[in-house]
Amino acid sequence: MKTLTLGILGGGQLGRMSALAAANLGIAVHIFTPEHNSPASQVSSQTTVAPYNDETALKKFAQSVDIITYEFENIPVDTIRFLKTLTPVYPDEKLLEVSQDRVIEKIFLNEINIETTRWKNYQSDQSILDAFQEWKSSATIIKTTRFGYDGKGQVKVNKHDNINETVRLLNGDKIIEDIVDFTCEISMICARDHEGNIITYGPMLNEHKNHILHLTTVPAGISQKHVHQADKMIRKIAQKIDLKGVLTLELFLTKDGRLLANEIAPRTHNSGHWSMNACLYSQFDNHIRAVCGFPVMDPQRHSDAKMLNLIGEDILDIDRHMKKSGAYLHIYGKSEIREGRKMGHINFISPKTSPTAS
Ligand SMILES: Nc1ncnc2c1ncn2[C@@H]1O[C@H](COP(=O)(O)OP(=O)(O)O)[C@@H](O)[C@H]1O
Ligand SMILES: [Mg+2]
Repeated sequence: MKTLTLGILGGGQLGRMSALAAANLGIAVHIFTPEHNSPASQVSSQTTVAPYNDETALKKFAQSVDIITYEFENIPVDTIRFLKTLTPVYPDEKLLEVSQDRVIEKIFLNEINIETTRWKNYQSDQSILDAFQEWKSSATIIKTTRFGYDGKGQVKVNKHDNINETVRLLNGDKIIEDIVDFTCEISMICARDHEGNIITYGPMLNEHKNHILHLTTVPAGISQKHVHQADKMIRKIAQKIDLKGVLTLELFLTKDGRLLANEIAPRTHNSGHWSMNACLYSQFDNHIRAVCGFPVMDPQRHSDAKMLNLIGEDILDIDRHMKKSGAYLHIYGKSEIREGRKMGHINFISPKTSPTAS
């Protein structure tokens, strides 16, 4: 029997957990990453260490695998276009283009009638003054359109701030967003297979600390109406984009009861890590299934869960969790501790309280 080989662009923890899920299905994994000793390469049979624009290395990589996927969104779109000429890549670059640029993302969402916060292109500081006036707001968030993550590449601007000084902190194209007065932040994850079947995880309730995800809770404890609405929204996105793979939708639940889409990630997500221990099929199982051409499976959540991220030095304090029943540790194998770096997570699992909550 020929072993299927999956190529994954990116060597982080999402690649690592996808590679572990692939191994369970007897699928070999080849990681392509610029980083030596990456979390994903530690658990994969092959690694190519090279930059994402090294065409010789990319060609050799593509020829050594049957299918290619990626584990983070800042892979250059040209890299995917080049690889696609040699080997199938899922999800394809359409999703990447949408999720890499906050303006393209907002236009896409609004065009398919998914509500977002009010936004404007930043052209000059005058655009911010116009936003204050039009939206009758006293504060806005300015974000770089590309490459932001974990709250990096964004600043809040208050009406009486020195706008010029604040905005100068951000390089490149920018978007202006109205500040959302939210009750909570939630997310949804979905996987869609080559036949068009869709399964979803969530909604999950997400709490951040210093702009980094801190705790995810499932079920989210929001109304059934909002559960259905969030589910419908992510299915619509997956269909419109003809997804083959996994995508995540981050949402705000506003104080006046509206669900606003915040951003899309073209991949598995930190807020879905609980599924590794609270479901029959985790987000990583379904990621592998969806990209490798197998059917996606209903997650069949059997437990309630809380996922706690281990950020930076949190990793030095895991001994007490090692002794807790129902606490399942996942450590990513990063040798260097850095402030704000995701080093691992713990899933706290408990019996399912409500049979109907998703
Ligand atoms: N328009 C907004 N209104 C209120 N809070 C926001 C807004 N945009 C972002 N935030 C807060 O900042 C966090 C990070 O912003 P996000 O757009 O998700 O960027 P990223 O996750 O890529 O850093 C959000 O999870 C939310 O807590
Ligand atoms: Mg976000």
